[in-house]
Amino acid sequence: MCGIAGIVAHEDITAKLVDSIRNLEYRGYDSCGVALMNGSGVISVSKNVGAVDEVSEKENFLKMSGNIGIAHTRWATHGNVTKANSHPHSSGNKAFTITHNGIVSNHDNLRTELGKKGYKFKSGTDTEVIVHLIDDQFKKLGSVESAFVNAMRKLEGTYAIAMITAHDKGKIYCSRMESPLLLGVGSDANYVGSDFNAFINYTKSAVFLEDGEYAIVTHENHVVKKIATGKTVERDVQELQWDLEMAQKGGFPHYMLKEIYEQPQIVHRALDIDGAEIREMAKAAINQKNFFITGVGTTFYVAQIGQYYFSNYAGITPMVISSDEFRFLAQVDSKSLVLAISQSGETYDTLSALRHAKARKAKTAAIINVMGSSMARMVDHLVLQGSGPEICVISTKAALAQMIVLARIALEAGVMRKHITAKEAKTKEKELRKLPNAIDKLLNEQSAFIHAIAKKQSNIRHWLFLGRGRYYPVARESALKMKEVSYVHAEGMPSGFLKHGTIALIDDDLNSVVFTPTEDEKDLFKLTLSSAEEIRARNGYVLGIRFKTKLKQKLPFSDEIVLPKTPSFIAPFLQVVVAHLLSYFTATTLKRNIDRPRALAKSVTVE
Ligand code: AGP
Repeated sequence: MCGIAGIVAHEDITAKLVDSIRNLEYRGYDSCGVALMNGSGVISVSKNVGAVDEVSEKENFLKMSGNIGIAHTRWATHGNVTKANSHPHSSGNKAFTITHNGIVSNHDNLRTELGKKGYKFKSGTDTEVIVHLIDDQFKKLGSVESAFVNAMRKLEGTYAIAMITAHDKGKIYCSRMESPLLLGVGSDANYVGSDFNAFINYTKSAVFLEDGEYAIVTHENHVVKKIATGKTVERDVQELQWDLEMAQKGGFPHYMLKEIYEQPQIVHRALDIDGAEIREMAKAAINQKNFFITGVGTTFYVAQIGQYYFSNYAGITPMVISSDEFRFLAQVDSKSLVLAISQSGETYDTLSALRHAKARKAKTAAIINVMGSSMARMVDHLVLQGSGPEICVISTKAALAQMIVLARIALEAGVMRKHITAKEAKTKEKELRKLPNAIDKLLNEQSAFIHAIAKKQSNIRHWLFLGRGRYYPVARESALKMKEVSYVHAEGMPSGFLKHGTIALIDDDLNSVVFTPTEDEKDLFKLTLSSAEEIRARNGYVLGIRFKTKLKQKLPFSDEIVLPKTPSFIAPFLQVVVAHLLSYFTATTLKRNIDRPRALAKSVTVE
């Protein structure tokens, strides 16, 4: 949700600290700020509304100096987007300065208590309450560490905090409770970050903090302790597999387009995941009486696509419940498996669903992109999808990879349950192996045509995305893509719903997109075409996304994107890529902020 960075070194770190927070902007970019301290213990704070480059210019970040500092880029949860509410926040005498990610649920009571002691507040944030609380505890205890820990013990809710103080120069204090935070271990400096992008340019050696832990970091050392007990915890240093070059744009105008074009190799990586991991997940899925798949936003639709693959190829229909609704709906017990899908591994709602499951003794599993993330470290069964850093807030390559992993697990489960033969599974795996080339061909041969359609239709503000069977969740995910990157209203729904009410919407100011199955899927193909006919009969515009057929007659589409004849097993995945391009080109035509659409954040780590 927000990005936290911190560096402690011998030499000046100003430019590195500004770079660190720039690499975290995809986590939130309403406002940003830096706090730097030099040897004399004077802390200077500079912050404002806007993205890093804009604020750095306005506030002369690079004219500041210090060998220890913290920085923050904000996605507003408490308090409007104003300079006063941007981080870092300082205690009255500036002796303590902190940045925070998360939501402190008891901040109102704490604010009242501190107000009675004479504390004055400059902002409406829960974060400012924390820094005054630490100051108050220091006045009582006289020790920075005891004050920091006692303040943490009084907080309820979620937090990742980094703090510097004039009372203990040369140290960064940091802590985490359900909001991500990790340490970077360098040769001549040490780092703190919400994720590895904060310091991957400087070191790939990381220490992952667990919930309820705090760390004290100096330029040559770090110690990790439990907030509850103060006991030291041994945490191994792990080597990150990624580097920032993988996360850079590589010549593309936007991360979104880069990540769409990475999809052929991302699918290869998903197909190269060790079969033993896939089999372990499949075994867990079929051995439990109840099998749930959960995710939210895009990963909920990925879960829905997985539901169809399990139903079609494993003969089981997992319950798919969005993680924000999970604890209100799912009946989970020790005979359940809950499989979470998440790119970041830090999404609050999906973490809550897993915690809900674990509290009821269910087995838990996850398909995740970010190694070392909270979800990756809490489940019984884990598949790391290996899609590399996904920087664009809009998930494309990571979501596609998750669909492939679910399809592979469904095939394994189908063979284990003797729902399909090993030979049939092998055939489907071979078809999956054709997907990277099919995507490559699509990207190279159809992008310009899809761009032209997007441009022609970019004046339309309302879209219906329609699909049947496993093309239905494809339609829903594609509608979300269109909404979140181009701000155009789009609704994904089963094409069978049309005649039950929605058809009343058909008009000149509404377009429909129909995800058409392959001709081999006879029933689905026929039903989908009849939905398109219903729209055309009312002079509605229909964009048909379809595959080459043997049919001679024109299909009921106003425009169509025709893909080569494709095995039905991989057909929905190819159509997802078409939707990626359609939404991308609509958004570029409308001059949207592609990689950081308004009001969005890459990882929603608050409730
Ligand atoms: C993706 O395009 C969306 N921005 C969003 O729905 C995202 O999929 C959702 O927030 C879940 O994130 P996660 O995969 O990191 O858990």
